[in-house]
Amino acid sequence: MSAKTPSQGEEAVGQPGINRREFLTYAWGVAMGLLAAEGGAATYFFLLPRFRAGEFGGKFQLGPTSSLPPPGTLPPVLSTAGKYWLVHTEVGVKALYQVCTHLGCLYKWSESNQRFECPCHGSKFTAEGDYIEGPAPRSLDQFVVEIVQDGVVVATTQETEDAIVPPAVRGTPWALSAQVVVDTGRRILGKPAAKSPARRAG
Ligand code: FES
Repeated sequence: MSAKTPSQGEEAVGQPGINRREFLTYAWGVAMGLLAAEGGAATYFFLLPRFRAGEFGGKFQLGPTSSLPPPGTLPPVLSTAGKYWLVHTEVGVKALYQVCTHLGCLYKWSESNQRFECPCHGSKFTAEGDYIEGPAPRSLDQFVVEIVQDGVVVATTQETEDAIVPPAVRGTPWALSAQVVVDTGRRILGKPAAKSPARRAG
């Protein structure tokens, strides 16, 4: 008595009960499943926030506006984790990106001159971040500052054609209770040096 031989296209592939067609069907299903899982994982990770609060690229919660120094107080305060200088100017709160707009050196606060000075090529900026002189092409970049009350943003850094306008705190309804947040994921480029109100004619 002879064993049954597989018909054409239904050759056995080494396991009893599975022919080539079934094997290919299973393999196709597994491949599609893996592809779907990969796509799902990619979407999941894409939707996740890439930076956590309190790390550079994310948001920094600075506490209530009442904890800010009075407007005009110097020196500005450096956040090394956030890479910004916080300065409460007469017109509002600014977070100045710590990196020089010329070639990327870290500028420093000069206590004797009451301004920022870059040790690399001598660019200088006011305490508000405005360009004074040197090879830097623009004033200092700024991160967006938000004033948040009960989970709602009530004021934020605005950009106009000529200036970056910080959110004011003094004299507002949220003067004491709202929270100050610096978003280091949103950087606004400083305005061109030629537009700086502090620019020295050279
Ligand atoms: S990097 Fe600051 S002046 Fe050149």
